[in-house]
Amino acid sequence: MRSLLLEAFVASLLLATSVEAQTPAFQGELLLQTVLNNGKCLTASSNTNGAAVTLQGCTGAAAQKWTFTGTTVTVFGNKCLDVTDGNNSDGTKLQIWTCSANNANQQWQYSVWDNTLKWTNKNKCMDVTGGVQSDGNRIQVWTCSYKNPNQFWNAGYMVNALPAQSQNGQYGTNNCGTGSSQTSKCQTVWINAADDFCLWAPPTPGAIGDTEQIEVAWCTKSGRGTRTIPNGALKGVHFVKTPDYVQVTGVGDFTKINVPKGDSGGELDNRGADGRGNPIGGLVYGNSFGTGQQYHEWTSFISDGEFCFRACVGPKATSLCNHIYDVMGCYWNMPANYNAGTFENCVGDDALPMGVYGTSTWYQGTKPTPAAHPAPASSGCKTLPTVSVSPALRRRESGFERRYEDPAFPGATPAP
Ligand SMILES: *[C@@H]1O[C@H](CO)[C@@H](O)[C@H](O)[C@H]1NC(C)=O
Repeated sequence: MRSLLLEAFVASLLLATSVEAQTPAFQGELLLQTVLNNGKCLTASSNTNGAAVTLQGCTGAAAQKWTFTGTTVTVFGNKCLDVTDGNNSDGTKLQIWTCSANNANQQWQYSVWDNTLKWTNKNKCMDVTGGVQSDGNRIQVWTCSYKNPNQFWNAGYMVNALPAQSQNGQYGTNNCGTGSSQTSKCQTVWINAADDFCLWAPPTPGAIGDTEQIEVAWCTKSGRGTRTIPNGALKGVHFVKTPDYVQVTGVGDFTKINVPKGDSGGELDNRGADGRGNPIGGLVYGNSFGTGQQYHEWTSFISDGEFCFRACVGPKATSLCNHIYDVMGCYWNMPANYNAGTFENCVGDDALPMGVYGTSTWYQGTKPTPAAHPAPASSGCKTLPTVSVSPALRRRESGFERRYEDPAFPGATPAP
């Protein structure tokens, strides 16, 4: 607990100094997706000057690969995201134009804290015109407004084009291949079902609070380049899909995945104290709301004996995956079934947003600490006898045929 409290203190200091971050935490050529996580990406309609910037289904084409270089956002190497004629009126459409030094129409500032892309010095934000999510809808600038879903842009990657490392200073890798290894440094996790999910845990034994920046993926499925959770470590697993998130909760013996006995654990999420996330460069994918879809908002706790992991989509993602309550643990943040001896897949209702009680919001450290919300209702639960390591079905993620024939073995399947 001590390290968690210290972390919260350090986090508050860092927060104060890092709000000026001007680019996404992620590096390289990025997809810019709308808040709805509906597979719509910012797209240049061609590579000529004056080409409209629109929404299109994400394909990972060159026209959707945006690179943040200082204060500009470039595509096709030398074209910049540009406010047409520099017109400062709400509703001015965006275009691409050849980049030129210090061109005021091409200056942008991305905030990792509220995921907005702001036209520098103008208080105008990149905005989905009319909130219309159809292909071809042009993108505009509009006066920035707090938590406006039309102005919220996630930065990420196609699952089939993951970079070796998504962030500077990253311990491991995101492009993990199709094998499995208990020394893997893979930092790409999946959350699909009670028998298909991963946890963040240390690469070598060490308290979560001391290793949070370097946690690696430990999964129930082999074949995604990660480590596998040794059979017998999971004692109970409860997966639920709700309208706005997937969540897995449960108990086990996580000394088997390098969490020291007695460690009360800690919290991992997509922002971390400095906007880079814990682990740094950690990416989360799943198939529940779309095949191979990236979850941009997620929160997870693990200790020596329990875990919880929630990954959110849609306009409620930041409130339902709020990760500011980092000393409050699983039961308070994600009230749910944690029972040992049951392995199940359910559907359920959204939980109430953590920390929100009617019209008031509680902040960690304020006395008194309010009770956890009740666990939301779930239904249609299908139980599994247990959860042990088995091969990932590749087809659902990438269109490939199944690579492995036989499930059920202790430990990992080597790469073919
Ligand atoms: C800026 O855009 C507004 C709204 O479209 C338009 O009325 C105005 O004439 C434009 N200003 C300039 C200088 O082009």
